Amino acid sequence: MAKKIVAGNWKMNKNLQEGIELAKGLNEALAADKPNCGVVICTPFIHLAKVSEIINHDVIGLGAENCADKASGAYTGEVSAEMVKSTGAEYVILGHSERREYYNETPEILKEKVELALANGLKIIFCIGESLEQRKANEQNAVVKAELEGSVFHLSAEQFKNIVIAYEPIWAIGTGMTATADQAEEIHAYIRSIIAEKYGQAVADETSILYGGSCKASNAPELFAKPDIDGGLIGGASLKVADFKGIIDAWK
Ligand code: 13P
Repeated sequence: MAKKIVAGNWKMNKNLQEGIELAKGLNEALAADKPNCGVVICTPFIHLAKVSEIINHDVIGLGAENCADKASGAYTGEVSAEMVKSTGAEYVILGHSERREYYNETPEILKEKVELALANGLKIIFCIGESLEQRKANEQNAVVKAELEGSVFHLSAEQFKNIVIAYEPIWAIGTGMTATADQAEEIHAYIRSIIAEKYGQAVADETSILYGGSCKASNAPELFAKPDIDGGLIGGASLKVADFKGIIDAWK
């Protein structure tokens, strides 16, 4: 059985003080009421070291939202996978549609990032998902397959065990337009089937496949009830303790 996970992606929100408050609040809420699933928060780089000191890592995993495609050196403004790891973070999000679209991250660049993250002992939340045009043209399966083949399907089965998949239909991100539970389940089952083809059923069954895109406390129970949906990657609703906790509680 795949591990159930609710992960937050803060994106470019919260200054340092606000981020510390949010992390403290979540830590307290989950100390008082233990979650029934893995919980991860992925924060901007500048929050990582401080948040790492605040949270109980037995309950809350910490992740970055990106890392560099180079190991070290003269790359002004970049943050390496090794630096991320040294803050106490355990995860990194790679392949988010916002990075693919706004920062021109290609499958080849993402492959480099994947390699470096794994070499530095980070687990990867690897995002895939189709645009509205691709969904209308019924190309979603081909799109997610190509995204996996382009950046992670070269890994060994042993390496692939450090990958969490996040299916995030681009048309559902920040739009309030959630995929229906049936729509999400259909493509999650397809994603698991291609992982099984590549790595075998046992690895596929152990792979956590999260749904992302306007997931909130009100729709999480229906989504998480589906057999191939192992949790969520949450944007907007991860920015308030009560909203995020409401989604975590969907596993109760
Ligand atoms: P929203 O939950 O704000 O739609 O964002 C989803 C997302 O992109 C998480 O990575």
